[in-house]
Amino acid sequence: MTVDQLRAHFLVHFPEHTADGGDAFFSPGRVNLIGEHIDYNGGMVLPCAINLGTYAVAAKRSDRRVRMLSLNFEEMGVIESTLDTIAYDSEKDWANYPLGVLFTLMQAGQEIPFGMDILFYGDLPNGAGLSSSASIEVLTATIAKTFFNLRLTPVEIALLCQKSENEFNGVNCGIMDQFSIAMGKVDHAVLLNCDTLEYEHVPATLGDYRLVIINTNKKRGLVDSAYNQRRQECDMAFERLNSVFKSRPLSALCDLTPTEFLSVSEVLEKDSVYKRAHHAIMENYRTIRSKDALSEGNLLAFGEWMYASHASLKNYFEVSCHELDVIVDLSRPLRGVLGARMTGAGFGGCAIALVHHAHVDHYKEAVSKGYKEQTGISASFYIAEISGGTGLV
Ligand code: GLA
Repeated sequence: MTVDQLRAHFLVHFPEHTADGGDAFFSPGRVNLIGEHIDYNGGMVLPCAINLGTYAVAAKRSDRRVRMLSLNFEEMGVIESTLDTIAYDSEKDWANYPLGVLFTLMQAGQEIPFGMDILFYGDLPNGAGLSSSASIEVLTATIAKTFFNLRLTPVEIALLCQKSENEFNGVNCGIMDQFSIAMGKVDHAVLLNCDTLEYEHVPATLGDYRLVIINTNKKRGLVDSAYNQRRQECDMAFERLNSVFKSRPLSALCDLTPTEFLSVSEVLEKDSVYKRAHHAIMENYRTIRSKDALSEGNLLAFGEWMYASHASLKNYFEVSCHELDVIVDLSRPLRGVLGARMTGAGFGGCAIALVHHAHVDHYKEAVSKGYKEQTGISASFYIAEISGGTGLV
């Protein structure tokens, strides 16, 4: 769908804006290159914004009504509220994400004097773990900022959107998704220290290689409860390790180096809590080393860290699944593939692979075939372009 087509749709649904036409915005989705399940452990993550995402055409109103329509859920029609009556309502389904953001902005003291009409359209596959919710959240905050000159930095926007998802939508996510979407930069990954929020844009110079996204197209169930359980296990590990680690005060699980962890890890029984901590601390180390490899143009090493990350997510954090493992296992022996891993929360969703451009077609063919044979499901493939953050288009 082109932006002009979206504008046309907008005017069909909201014809009172024919004179001004509305403003068009784009908000990316994200893939995480490495640093999985450690944003909520104060770790380092290396995500990047991608050119698949959510578009909006929006216009200010002169009253306090808010009307929203998603072309992805057109059958649900226009969803309405007023700025003064926003409350979570399961009937409003997807619209709870943008409404939650408006609510959270106002709760934080931002002045939103007028309502707005917004038409959304997303080309991110639904429920695929590419952060469609964070994409629409940051998009809504950016629309409000643009219309009402809100004094908000992109980092503040990311934090408020995370708060909204945590409190309004009851999803206990970390900061990685909203941050990478608000702070995305073309051809750069965002190296983010989730403990301090210090960040750096790292050139993602992939040369002859392409970042291929492979959607398992597996229906994900119970992701939220398993996600919360992992968070609790990590909190327990931190509490126990912190009680015996005396060298300095620890701010988070990932504050421990691998050597420090090994020196105190006997306090944890060799059960799932130990395994979660092992993953988190080693993944943090892998992210730091991967960032160095990327900066040095050593994609071979980067690919190996990707495989190692996947193995740890599978064996220690236990958030992979048969479908994701099949994709990684099929990828490894193929020509031109440097690395592959699951990306995002897991239990389905997407994997990513670093594939030489000359071998991409063969890669898709071989993985498609093997995946279908082993799982009975057809995978989908996207070549990710690393995009800028949310803004006007
Ligand atoms: C989801 C969450 C993020 C992060 C990832 C796992 O995408 O929203 O905060 O925890 O899972 O790395």
